[in-house]
Amino acid sequence: MPSLYVFDAYGTLFDTSAAVARIAAHLGEDGAKLAEIWRRKQLEYSWIRSLMKDRSRDFWRLTEDALDFAIAKVPAAETSMRDGLLEAYRDLDTFEEVPGVLRALKDGGARLAILSNGSHAMLERAIRSAKLDTLIDRVFSAEDAGTFKTAPEIYELATTAFRLYPSAVSFQSSNRWDIAGATRFGFSTVWINRSGEPDEYRDLPPNAILPDLKGLPTLG
Ligand code: LAC
Repeated sequence: MPSLYVFDAYGTLFDTSAAVARIAAHLGEDGAKLAEIWRRKQLEYSWIRSLMKDRSRDFWRLTEDALDFAIAKVPAAETSMRDGLLEAYRDLDTFEEVPGVLRALKDGGARLAILSNGSHAMLERAIRSAKLDTLIDRVFSAEDAGTFKTAPEIYELATTAFRLYPSAVSFQSSNRWDIAGATRFGFSTVWINRSGEPDEYRDLPPNAILPDLKGLPTLG
């Protein structure tokens, strides 16, 4: 059994569509479209900036840039929603099973960490508002590596800090691209396929696939 569980943050622990659901529920289908474009652009910007080796914008800034694009792209969305959406993104809900699963792992003696593209400031606020702060032992931010996932330097932050071989770490993410990067780095990986996506990156398969975090083996 692994003794260190490392979690991706957005989409894995924190429900990123919750911000739109809270502020723009009245948009219906267009709200879902807004959330999808916002998320897709946020990720695209992180990869493009990484390729450029441009460290000038942290993940919060990219989240703002992506929202500006999404609002401009979806006709039903209005600029007046911007501040409310960003505010909701700062204090996202977790997926329903998250606190219970983390508590069970912790009670079983595991160490828990978050490894995310998010800046320290946005991660700390999200962790505090979701009351996960007593459960998480360490937070690794892409900010500390000066690039974004899937650069191996980011996954390496965890093995360096805990002095572990990559294979001794269980890494959980709902993002298949992140699982590809973590598998290539050598982590033992669990793809949390929350929305039943088809598989991809087939040369870099996860060790396990679960529909949510509930099936993770506990140590106790
Ligand atoms: C994270 C985003 C990309 O790293 O899901 O938390």
